[in-house]
Amino acid sequence: MVGAQQGVGMSESGGRLPGDPTAAEAVERMIRVDHAGEFGASRIYAGQLAVLGRGAKGDVLRHMKAQEQHHLDTFSDLIVRRRVRPTALLPFWNVAGFALGAATALLGERAAMACTVAVEETIDAHYAAQTAALGEDEPELRATIETFRAEELEHRDIGLAHDAEGAPGYRLLTGVIKAGCRVAIAISERV
Ligand SMILES: [Fe+2]
Ligand SMILES: [Fe+2]
Repeated sequence: MVGAQQGVGMSESGGRLPGDPTAAEAVERMIRVDHAGEFGASRIYAGQLAVLGRGAKGDVLRHMKAQEQHHLDTFSDLIVRRRVRPTALLPFWNVAGFALGAATALLGERAAMACTVAVEETIDAHYAAQTAALGEDEPELRATIETFRAEELEHRDIGLAHDAEGAPGYRLLTGVIKAGCRVAIAISERV
């Protein structure tokens, strides 16, 4: 079950349990959930920009949104090339991502940065688990994930540099957002 949650199963062809995804299915799940995640991330930054776009944090938010757009375009291309079914929940993440971004931005600039820290830390752990699961398989996909993971960590650091931790209720806020992101990841691998 743990293996299935992480979409693993690749380099352990002998150790697959009944119900575990095959290697090909595991890679499809990775592409599906990463596409969903990058879509959600682009929508979060769009929501933050709708509120804070004209303010002092506008440029840094636009920088991060542009990188998320590149991540999304890359996975959109992979979805087509590898014939992976996208998650059925894109319309939901469209609204939920924007709402999360706008709501945190309405709480203030520091809360918006706290949202970035929570989301990007969760994606970092998610991408790290994926590269570990891939091992030596799928070198091109693994390189893409590693590149994007470095940029997600850059986003996390931007959030911290912009006083995310000074947001009121930082621990509660980031804890709730991280939990929500983990649920979103688990659902988007499958649905
Ligand atoms: Fe991203
Ligand atoms: Fe990011």
